Amino acid sequence: MSKHETFRYKTAEELLKKAEEMGINLPWQETLDPLFQPVCLGEKEIQNRLVVHPMEGFDAIPDGSPGELTVRRYHRYAEGGSGMIWFEATAVVKEGRSNPGQLAINRKSLPRYQRLIESMRSTAYKVFGGSHNLYIVLQLTHSGRFSKPQGKPAPMVFCYNPHLDRDRQEIRELTDEQLKPIQEAFIEAGTLAEKAGFDSVDIKASHGYLLHEFLSSFTKENSRYGGPSFENRTRFIREVIRGIQTGTSSLDISSRISLYDGVPHPYGFGVGQDGSMDMDLDEPVKLVRQLVQSGCCLINGTMGIPFINAHLNRPYNKPIPGMDLPDEHPLEGVARLIDGVGRVQQAVHDARLVGTGYSWLRHFFPEVAAAVLQQKKATFIGLGRNSFAYPDAPKELMQYGKIKKKKTCSSCSKCTELMRNMLVTGCPVRDKEVYKPIYKKIKH
Ligand SMILES: Cc1cc2nc3c(=O)[nH]c(=O)nc-3n(C[C@H](O)[C@H](O)[C@H](O)COP(=O)(O)O)c2cc1C
Repeated sequence: MSKHETFRYKTAEELLKKAEEMGINLPWQETLDPLFQPVCLGEKEIQNRLVVHPMEGFDAIPDGSPGELTVRRYHRYAEGGSGMIWFEATAVVKEGRSNPGQLAINRKSLPRYQRLIESMRSTAYKVFGGSHNLYIVLQLTHSGRFSKPQGKPAPMVFCYNPHLDRDRQEIRELTDEQLKPIQEAFIEAGTLAEKAGFDSVDIKASHGYLLHEFLSSFTKENSRYGGPSFENRTRFIREVIRGIQTGTSSLDISSRISLYDGVPHPYGFGVGQDGSMDMDLDEPVKLVRQLVQSGCCLINGTMGIPFINAHLNRPYNKPIPGMDLPDEHPLEGVARLIDGVGRVQQAVHDARLVGTGYSWLRHFFPEVAAAVLQQKKATFIGLGRNSFAYPDAPKELMQYGKIKKKKTCSSCSKCTELMRNMLVTGCPVRDKEVYKPIYKKIKH
């Protein structure tokens, strides 16, 4: 393990030298062609391998519909050149929102989603021509123990976890009976997403939210959805997929999965069962295989539970104020994400994996991403924080073969700070006209 360092690499040679010193074999190639190779998902051809990752903006109007800033963000993405846009966490029930400004899909909010999808597609056609068929995914979520629908914690927990819960006495675990309406809400949200014009829905099972909890619920008793049995722990997700498939005609199914939680067994997924913190991808690989067999066409690989180990999820230069620096160099975090996704992709050839963790690399991400694709360690490359900062990076890459250092995300964590302060979220550094005044509201 190497000490945390801020980003200080002026040239590719300096970055690669650092990786070598740390014993990291960072994929790298100068030719960027793999980023622009079209790929088919069923009958839909996606123009390039670049994906806007799901990134919450908390700028919905009260019924959960996209607000003014939501529309602005998604239009910037549509004009930005990515082949795929993965809509942020969108609640299937209001009480499962993590923030009063979180998007929610329901019958009332449906028309505004329809209008937004339609206008995003026509924007992309205008800018890039008729062959640029945006592929748009909607991430469906229930925030579970992190629910704050009115701005105050209102947790709904499936299984007590000492790494996340302070007091066992305070936790009232959900029963299978109480899960039924939540499952129905996921299924209904899938049918609404198809009506809205999305290509796919993501059954989100990551970052500590409700559906992610099932995967590590080894200690849950008396439930069809938990306990030592892998079948039980994956049943809820499979039932949601089957329900959505039954209720829709051509909607694709995807899933964002935390492949490694960084929480010891029996409370973490993708972690060695020997009590160590080592990554063990046996169960994640088994899950991805099972999901592909169930008809899941895309898996977006991620890691960690950001509330307790944010560096696993998004390697950063600076943490949010008051948080300690992690005990590792950010490049180790980047390498862990690339390696984890790569191992799953290579174990399940017919899965289409979206890779994560590229924003920390700044203007060097394209060369790393191209090599990852070339080595078949992912099928798509997702960008989260850099999409807030520099949504048109893919367009500039197509036009000029490179991107501008000064427009990239500096992984300063200001977007996360906005989110943690329950404010509308975006990049106060690179998109300062809109988000700097909002950031100034935070009392430091
Ligand atoms: C402000 C913020 C909001 C996020 N919202 C979501 C979300 O809605 N759904 C999700 O799966 N991940 C979310 N993430 C995680 C990102 O999608 C992504 O996995 C992470 O930032 C690492 O990728 P990057 O290095 O390109 O930023 C969020 C991250 C941040 C910083």
